[in-house]
Amino acid sequence: MCQMCDLFKNNKAWASKVTQNDPEFFRRLAGQQNPQYLWIGCSDSRVPANDIVGLEPGQIFVHRNVANVVVHSDLNCLSVMQYAVDVLKVRHIIVTGHYGCGGIRAALSNQKLGLIDNWLRHVQDVAAKHKKELDILSTDFEKEARLCELNVIEQVSNACLTTVVQQAWDRNQELTVHGWIYGLKDGLLRDLEITASSSEDFRAHYERIFPNR
Ligand code: CO
Repeated sequence: MCQMCDLFKNNKAWASKVTQNDPEFFRRLAGQQNPQYLWIGCSDSRVPANDIVGLEPGQIFVHRNVANVVVHSDLNCLSVMQYAVDVLKVRHIIVTGHYGCGGIRAALSNQKLGLIDNWLRHVQDVAAKHKKELDILSTDFEKEARLCELNVIEQVSNACLTTVVQQAWDRNQELTVHGWIYGLKDGLLRDLEITASSSEDFRAHYERIFPNR
């Protein structure tokens, strides 16, 4: 059977299994979605948002791009955030990076891969900002792992500084931004402890993590 036929076959099997467990599932979801979470993660096929946190369709709003970057002028990411926060009223934005990220590796090693090099400039900016800390690490493996973490922290910072999050906090909307990292080798998430529910929270965490900045 052709590869695409397999996907349709899988889809039918999945839909019928879900319907068997809950006959109203699709009818209910078609009516409305009410997710509490916005996930901003890497496009990497090994980091599927819903599976990792065990959530069903309808429970998590998802934006993914290479290396989970929140760029100040990226209308795609900003629109997702604005819709999630203003319209869906999600309570949590979770920026999730992962160790072993090809985008981070390419950025760190200055690989030339094409158009994507421009996107990864944002990660190279993170590396440049934290050059001192990265230079101390002795192996490429350690540098890469740390840059995966630093990138999450900086993208949380970018997310917190968007008009979307700032305005939500200004009007006292309940909204928390988290920075997590996922391990491809063990399937586990780790909290990078930059959880912020206000601008003050965010600044305090950032200053704790980077005291000399
Ligand atoms: Co990645």
